[in-house]
Amino acid sequence: MKIVVIQGPNLNMLGVREQNIYGPMKLEQIHAQMKEVASQNGVEIEFFQSNLEGELVDKIQECYGDAQGIIINAAAYTHTSIAIRDALAAVNLPTIEVHISNIHRREEFRKENMIAPVCTSSVVGFGPFGYHLAMMGMLQIMNEIQAAQEAQASAQQAQ
Ligand code: DQA
Repeated sequence: MKIVVIQGPNLNMLGVREQNIYGPMKLEQIHAQMKEVASQNGVEIEFFQSNLEGELVDKIQECYGDAQGIIINAAAYTHTSIAIRDALAAVNLPTIEVHISNIHRREEFRKENMIAPVCTSSVVGFGPFGYHLAMMGMLQIMNEIQAAQEAQASAQQAQ
């Protein structure tokens, strides 16, 4: 099982940008914690960050046939990108979107969300801990998929 973590624009600046909103943690630290949890659970994990919309679309498309789940913080593109939404809908994988801040209690323009309707679930407002919560959610989904596959295999064997 493989999870791909996709990070949108300006998230490479975590630890520097608007610390009053996003906190002091760097993206590398968040990823190190997620990697730890993935290895404890025997799951492969890959990280990708880009400031470019098309590169994010390309990465989502690459997940098709390669990964079983996506954790994404599309950052500002959350509020504008039909292309990212369409890519997520196209690959149709279990997808959890994360927002470090609570986008519902910030500026009006952050209430518009193009991504959420094509995601399995959203985690917002928990700070960097939201990525850990998303990992827990994704591992649960992976377990359910695996259990369903095993049940199907043994049902086929019994025929
Ligand atoms: C963000 C919220 C977005 O509105 C913003 O553009 C970001 C980060 C978050 O994680 O809280 O860059 O996705």
